[in-house]
Parts: sequence; C-alpha cells; structure tokens
Amino acid sequence: MTRLLARDVTLGYEGRTVARDLSVEIPDDSFTVIVGPNACGKSTLLAALARVLAPQAGAVVLDGAEIASYRSKEVARRLGLLPQTATAPGGITVGDLVARGRYPHQQLLKQWSDDDEVAVAEAMALTNVSDLAPRLVDELSGGQRQRVWLAMALAQETPILLLDEPTTYLDISHQVDVLELCARLHAHHGRTLVAVLHDLNQAARYASHLVALRRGGVVAATGPPGEVLTEELVTDVYGLACRVLPDPETGTPMVVPRRPDWMAGRAVEGAGDGRSVAGG
Ligand SMILES: Nc1ncnc2c1ncn2[C@@H]1O[C@H](COP(=O)(O)OP(=O)(O)O)[C@@H](O)[C@H]1O
Ligand SMILES: [Mg+2]
Repeated sequence: MTRLLARDVTLGYEGRTVARDLSVEIPDDSFTVIVGPNACGKSTLLAALARVLAPQAGAVVLDGAEIASYRSKEVARRLGLLPQTATAPGGITVGDLVARGRYPHQQLLKQWSDDDEVAVAEAMALTNVSDLAPRLVDELSGGQRQRVWLAMALAQETPILLLDEPTTYLDISHQVDVLELCARLHAHHGRTLVAVLHDLNQAARYASHLVALRRGGVVAATGPPGEVLTEELVTDVYGLACRVLPDPETGTPMVVPRRPDWMAGRAVEGAGDGRSVAGG
C-alpha cells in the first residue's frame, strides 16, 4: 500500500482548473522530486497532497484513508509541508518559529516537553540556524529564512515531508547543503521526501523517483531519473532542445541546453586556448 497518493484529482482555484484527472503516487521511502515548467501546477499538487487545498474531484489518500477524513493534527503528525512562499507572523524570533513545528505533538495539558526541546534543537542544528535563534525572522536574508522554514518543517518530525522549492534563494553551496540534508533524511532516517526542484541536474542527482509534469498538470513521465530524464522528455515538457550526458561526478543524467545557431562560431573568452568552439 502506498502511503500517499492522489487519485484522479481535479485541482484548481475559483474559475481556474490547474489539473484534471491527475494521478500521482509517492512511493514509500522514496525521495520523489517533482519537476515541470513554471505554472504547470507543481505547488498546487503539493498543496493538495498536504491537504492545504481540497481537490474539486477525486481524492488524496493518506495511509489508506481519504486525507480529508483526518483531524488536522493527525495529518500534521504524518506529513509536513514547506510551502513555496511562507510568511512568518511579524515580530517572531527564529527559535519561536521553529518551535511552532512542534504544535501537532503538543497535548492539551502538557504544553512543552523534553521531546519538543530536543526536536527543535536538532532541527536547528541540521539546518545550521542554531546561532540565529534569538534573531527576528523578518530581519533575515532570503537564504537564512529558507533554512529556518526548513528547520520548522523538520522539527515537526513527520515521516513524510513535502518541500516546495526548498533551494530557492540559496547560493549554490547552501543548495547543496539542503539537498544533502534531504538525502541524509531519506537514506538514514527513513523519511519519505517529496520536493519540487527547478534544477533538473540536481533533481537527477538526488531523486530516487522523478515525476515530470507538463503544462496543464499532466504527468509526462514518472520513474527513476535515469529513465525519465531524456532529451525527448526535456523537449516535450520544456520545449528546450538539449543534450543529456552522464554527470561526470555521479553518472546521473545531466541536461545541457543546445547552443542556438546564432551563437555558433563565436570565440569563447577564456575557453582554454581561446579557439572558436564552432564545430566542436
Ligand atoms: N491561489 C491561487 N488562486 C488562483 N490561481 C492560482 C493560485 N495559485 C496558483 N494559481 C494558478 O494556478 C496555476 C498553477 O500554479 P502553481 O501550482 O503555483 O504552479 P507551479 O508551482 O508549477 O509554478 C498557475 O496558472 C497559477 O497562476
Ligand atoms: Mg510553485
């Protein structure tokens, strides 16, 4: 039984249908990455999987029951969502925001436990924000804020974690940090991860399972990155002519956009011997 899936869902907002009859399974214990062009419905799908958005038709199923049938705290103990754009309450400190991730675990009378304390400290250490604890969230850089939100999602300690573009705003080394952290959570802590990523090469490196959406919220392909990420797929889904080569570091597919004709024959400054790259 798959823990989390969307079955024949129609998703949208007032007056706008984003996806129709969409079915997506999140394989248990996978690191699933969702890719697709801007506005194709990735965030909408993630919101539906997290019960933030109710499907207009069809169902999202969590642990064998319709997700709509759970109490909200129960959903929040099973899955966490890092939204693409999250706004913190004004004047809140980093420590307090991360602590809010513990809400689903709190009981009525026993408000704050040692477990909560440990979970918050661990989440902040993993995302490298412990030093920021007393700072106001409003005053952080985009990259720092992104890691604080990730810490809050981690503090929730859910077996399933949904991350919408967790690497936005981050410089390349912090992007790698976050993706490595996700990979560790997946490999060593048995978390099921679902992330929306824009960088296809990062997606191919880290995903165990890739879901490629095309415009209109239609699944173009699913499966291991090595099977899904082909030149045909990239052309089909993004309208981009490219080559797909093995990543020299990992052997996973690496997408290299083709050079348009008008650029051919131009000398490339600093390309070793400075020769024209025309004709390879
Ligand atoms: N709250 C909303 N109300 C109305 N339309 C929305 C809302 N959120 C997203 N949309 C629209 O739904 C479509 C899919 O958006 P989204 O799921 O955010 O795309 P993606 O994450 O793939 O970039 C877009 O056309 C977007 O403009
Ligand atoms: Mg989005």
